[in-house]
Amino acid sequence: MKGLILSGGAGTRLRPITHTAAKQLVPVANKPVLFYALEAMRAAGISEVGVVVGDTRAEIEAAVGDGSRFGLAVTYLPQEAPLGLAHAVLISEAYLGDDPFVMYLGDNLLKEGITPFVEAFAADRPDALILLQKVADPKSYGIAELDGDGRVARLVEKPAEPRSDLALVGVYLFTPAVFESVKAIVPSARGELEITDAIQHMVDRGLNVEPHVVTGWWKDTGKLEDMLEANRLVLSTLEGDVRGELLETTLEGAVAVGPGSRLERCTVRGPAVIGAGCRLSDSFVGPYTSISDGVVVDHAELEHSIVLENSRISSLGARMTDSLIGRECVIARSQARPVAYRFLVGDRSRIGIL
Ligand code: DAU
Repeated sequence: MKGLILSGGAGTRLRPITHTAAKQLVPVANKPVLFYALEAMRAAGISEVGVVVGDTRAEIEAAVGDGSRFGLAVTYLPQEAPLGLAHAVLISEAYLGDDPFVMYLGDNLLKEGITPFVEAFAADRPDALILLQKVADPKSYGIAELDGDGRVARLVEKPAEPRSDLALVGVYLFTPAVFESVKAIVPSARGELEITDAIQHMVDRGLNVEPHVVTGWWKDTGKLEDMLEANRLVLSTLEGDVRGELLETTLEGAVAVGPGSRLERCTVRGPAVIGAGCRLSDSFVGPYTSISDGVVVDHAELEHSIVLENSRISSLGARMTDSLIGRECVIARSQARPVAYRFLVGDRSRIGIL
């Protein structure tokens, strides 16, 4: 069995963070979301993985390389434009050949990984296996309706009037029978070849599409709130590990501090992770916070937030919470006159002030 990870597309909903950067590389608990998918593949015994890439190919390739550090042989499959999940399958046909494969959306995160589903697929040998989970906002997902016997009856992509709250999780297992269906469908109203329509086509052909309900948590990290929640869920299993230097600093609960980081006169209440080469002083870091490498925090309080590489947070007048701060950002109290807020803010940013 091969793996197919979709890491192309445009991350419109996480802009401005993903304006130039790949959304699959935004870190959850200081690890890019995409790496969880690669690790899940390896854990399920898969060793050959195709990674579908688009405009952000260079960045994805720089992060993943040839896959050997994940124990995988990775092949990059360029997609000329984000023309849909089924289009990504279409362009991968030559790579996938006659093997069954597991397709994993590179911005999805599943607590239980994919091993149980790969095993169920091998045991039951359906034509496709889809994963489902109840959601509160079914209009945002592909939605499945099951019949009285629990079989897949109908699949609709982001329905305006959902008739079920069972969402399609972004992990799908297919036999090569899927290729006939991805070739038969036409683009949806949003102009994409939808994998949901291809699976519906398989159902209509009388093929066996087996539904499995996912019981552990699952997150599509496409939006800020989901990203923070994924960060919270992953950090809640964190184990403490301090490699940096602590001076007059108190750690409570599970806290990880990377090498070369120095914390002076700080309190860190875990679960929280602080990367390598950070400088924190006279500050409080509260639960569910992930601070990436090279970040500086002084005279500030933050919690339930993600701060990316080389940013600086300094002398805030109030605690920062529920925030996602991009790379090389500066959030600081200024002495400049006149006393005023001064912003240099990208498109689609959100700022909440006191
Ligand atoms: O997260 C689960 C949902 O994922 C499902 O419930 C939906 O049925 C499914 O269509 C998908 O919806 P999204 O709108 O969230 O998909 P998105 O455009 O965010 O793309 C998912 C991943 O696939 C993302 O990592 C980008 C990548 N991608 C996307 C497209 C459209 C590609 O590599 N190529 C593409 O053409």
